[in-house]
Amino acid sequence: MSTYEQALEALAYLRSVTSSEPRIGIILGTGLGGLVKEIENPTLVSYDSIPHFSVSTVESHVGRLVFGSIHNVEVVAMQGRFHAYEGYSLQDITFPVRVMRHLGVNTLIISNACGGMNPLYRRGDIMVIDDHINLLGDNPLIGRNDERYGPRFPDMSEPYSRRLISLAEQVALEQGVRLHRGVYVVVQGPNLETRAEYRFLRTIGADVVGMSTVPETIVARHMGMDVLGFSIITDECFPDSLQPVHLEDVLAAAAVAEPVMTSIIASVVQRIEHH
Ligand code: HPA
Repeated sequence: MSTYEQALEALAYLRSVTSSEPRIGIILGTGLGGLVKEIENPTLVSYDSIPHFSVSTVESHVGRLVFGSIHNVEVVAMQGRFHAYEGYSLQDITFPVRVMRHLGVNTLIISNACGGMNPLYRRGDIMVIDDHINLLGDNPLIGRNDERYGPRFPDMSEPYSRRLISLAEQVALEQGVRLHRGVYVVVQGPNLETRAEYRFLRTIGADVVGMSTVPETIVARHMGMDVLGFSIITDECFPDSLQPVHLEDVLAAAAVAEPVMTSIIASVVQRIEHH
């Protein structure tokens, strides 16, 4: 069965449990699930009940779709996402994004936790993603291209919508939040990087490094969706003064930044103009 046909089955199931017609999809990353509390009248749909959905293996991720509204704007959020290091194919990781498109979603907001390599970035800071570098050594579009979704060679001159980045910057300014703007490089993980690797990743032009987001962005752009990405810097990756990092520290930093990012995303959602 093709991905398209599988997505139609997932769509049929979702249509049977909710009449919601969101135009905005949100993917919540490590420790950022709290945005879900802002979603009013939520309908929760567990991934394991949706045809062809994978189930997340990471403890800090719950696995469900949350349909509801933020400031009266309908959204669908993925609470819990999949990573390449869990052993999923990039096609599996990005399947929910395909399904979102079938639901009518045309704007995707993605958040993640990352390591900061830009020396001006500090733990707990937030960055809006301006561009990315794919070092997964893999791509979710490998294989036969389905023209119903998009072209064989999708353009990547603007992976993250300039219009949405400006909106996010305007909202951050109004809220008095410092929002960096930079380049996200994705690696497979699951180990964090060596000092030599951080030095390399900084040298090739990245400000932060993480293990997610890029596959979802590529698939969303393949289908012509607009993407807005936010990274929370959970650890400082300066090769000349590198400290050991523990998962608790990563989650603690994400928890501190979470309300700030939640508030930015909530305002952005309210002000996105649909095309
Ligand atoms: N490297 C890769 N991914 C990460 C990091 C990191 O230092 N911190 C949080 N996610």
